[in-house]
Amino acid sequence: MTDRPILNVWGAEHQYGSRKVLRGVDLAVRPGEIYALLGPNGAGKSTLVGAICGRFRLTTGEVALDGHDPFKSPVARARLGLVPQEIALYGHMTVRENLQVFGRLSGVPRRELAGMVTRALQLTRTADREHVPVKHLSGGYRRRVNIAAAILHRPQLLILDEPTVGVDIDAREALDTVIRNLRDTGVAVLIVTHDLEQAGALADRVGFLKEGRKVLEGSPRGLIEQAFGQEMEILVQMDLEPDMDGESILAAEGLERRKGNLWARLDAGGYNAAAQLDRRLRSLGMIPREIRVRPPSLQNLFSLVADWRRAA
Ligand SMILES: Nc1ncnc2c1ncn2[C@@H]1O[C@H](COP(=O)(O)OP(=O)(O)OP(=O)(O)O)[C@@H](O)[C@H]1O
Ligand SMILES: [Mg+2]
Repeated sequence: MTDRPILNVWGAEHQYGSRKVLRGVDLAVRPGEIYALLGPNGAGKSTLVGAICGRFRLTTGEVALDGHDPFKSPVARARLGLVPQEIALYGHMTVRENLQVFGRLSGVPRRELAGMVTRALQLTRTADREHVPVKHLSGGYRRRVNIAAAILHRPQLLILDEPTVGVDIDAREALDTVIRNLRDTGVAVLIVTHDLEQAGALADRVGFLKEGRKVLEGSPRGLIEQAFGQEMEILVQMDLEPDMDGESILAAEGLERRKGNLWARLDAGGYNAAAQLDRRLRSLGMIPREIRVRPPSLQNLFSLVADWRRAA
């Protein structure tokens, strides 16, 4: 990673009519870095991405891509590859044919096209499907071909908007590998995601946007340590859906429902606390199927940040 950012945003403010959506956001992403932009619905993530792509002029503030303003400069926009959320490929055409079309559209010179397509196929691990019509591909492959289409002109910044929506675990891991490969070639990657697990696994840095402000930024591990210190997350999987009494027992133990019948709390006591909790629940007739102890995740941090909002 080099120190000079490829992308800089200074004091981004934006409003739609009288509604302030960005309220002074600074952002810097460096070559060879994966940065995940997180935040609740309506926080302003897509608006910020739109400004970075030069789709509109900010109300105030500045965006620079390798020193150029993407709103004014096609040179700046050429530094950027955007992977849209919707799959934007021609179903009846093969993968290679699609990439040839997208390469031409993004200005790759004709004599370089075949080489650039091959490179993009390799980087996104889609070369084994190059002659398959896109409509016959699995969802995971289509996502990767979408990435291939965005990198044909060798952008220095790749932006992905919600790349894992509707993608299963295996396909997500393949996607993560592709994103890491690109980062390792020196591309700066900006991911907008609600997938905190992916962000935690992938991002060198994350930024939380909330109501148009960046409220937190740093490495996932650093932020989690700072927020939770020695605390561990205790996860309790119950077998039987608790009745109302059962729910109040779990609540009295400080457990909150995560998803389905999985309950969790943070505890500085770690494994000992988990063993105690197990005994206590059993003595009350609540038999856990499984108890796990693990370090807190970005999910915990995200809940914490959401609570600040309620407190504010
Ligand atoms: N073109 C527009 N005109 C008016 N308001 C808009 C426009 N685009 C977005 N907004 C509003 O601006 C706010 C921020 O929207 P934005 O799409 O940037 O949020 P987001 O963080 O990307 O949310 P999500 O996670 O749901 O994608 C929202 O309240 C949204 O309704
Ligand atoms: Mg959005």
